[in-house]
Amino acid sequence: MIVFQDYYQNQVYLSFADHPFSKEPKHVWTICRYHHQWLLTDHCRRGLEFPGGKVEEGETPEQAAIREVREETGGVVDQLIYLGQYKVEGKGQTIIKNIYYANVKELIKQHSYLETNGPVLLEQLPAHIADDRRFSFIMKDGVLEHSLQEIKKKRLIE
Ligand code: GTP
Repeated sequence: MIVFQDYYQNQVYLSFADHPFSKEPKHVWTICRYHHQWLLTDHCRRGLEFPGGKVEEGETPEQAAIREVREETGGVVDQLIYLGQYKVEGKGQTIIKNIYYANVKELIKQHSYLETNGPVLLEQLPAHIADDRRFSFIMKDGVLEHSLQEIKKKRLIE
């Protein structure tokens, strides 16, 4: 278990074990690759981030992850791999989020990207995202850094 504080000094607990905090998390987040590039979305308020959101009634977390990638980027998920889970103890509420890695095979233009401006492709993620105002706060704590290490360790990218 890795413990640290997020951008807003909330306590975060992160683990790459099999669903350590909840079998039925209510949130999902998916680190996406599309043709050798990172696929992000540009959230209207928060800025650049990997797609994610809440699990809807009657949906599995995997279905939610695939839906959110499609809604926020137009991406069609080819392969979805569970990586880990994190818990954020916020001021008012505690949230638990599954982290996935997804390979996206196709980008389909959407009429609306909901709360986002749609897909953004990056060859590389900048080294200092925490200081980069273009990026969302959810990209600015240890979750991204450790998840990228896990992706490398599992040899999920070439
Ligand atoms: P929506 O507008 O419906 O998304 O509502 P919300 O702002 O209440 O969002 P949500 O329920 O997704 O998250 C509640 C709080 O949890 C947020 O305000 C954040 O403080 C925190 N939170 C959510 N997701 C993350 C995350 O990925 N990382 C971190 N560090 N905090 C998060």
